[in-house]
Amino acid sequence: MRILILHGPNLNLLGRREPEVYGRTTLAEIDEALGRIARKAGCTIECVQSNAEHELVERVQAAMDDGTDGIVINPAAFTHTSVALRDALAACGRPFVEVHLSVPEAREPFRHESLLADLALARVSGFGAHSYNYGLEGLIEHLKAAASE
Ligand code: DQA
Repeated sequence: MRILILHGPNLNLLGRREPEVYGRTTLAEIDEALGRIARKAGCTIECVQSNAEHELVERVQAAMDDGTDGIVINPAAFTHTSVALRDALAACGRPFVEVHLSVPEAREPFRHESLLADLALARVSGFGAHSYNYGLEGLIEHLKAAASE
């Protein structure tokens, strides 16, 4: 099983970006924890971070042909703005989990809308760095159940 982990803009700064909102865990530490979960489950993950919308769109497009079974994505600010990322995920057709460290709906009004949520298999938010772990675990369970049907 092959899972793509996508991190959107400014998540490369985790650890020193507004730690009162996003915590002190770095992106490298998040990816390491995801790697441990994937190894235990016998899955392969690839982690990609980009600040550029077109790079995220292109990586989602590539997932249509590279054997990716599912995606965990924190679209960051693109959650609220990117029709292009939404369209790419819709075209890709792989199940994806939308994760957020914070609870966007509990923050500024411009964060209340997600352009991706209605396409997502699930959404995990508010657990800080652990949101990723729960998102990955849930996606793995879902893919295993689907494979055994
Ligand atoms: C975020 C929430 C977004 O509103 C914000 O733009 C981010 C991070 C989160 O993980 O809580 O960059 O996706």
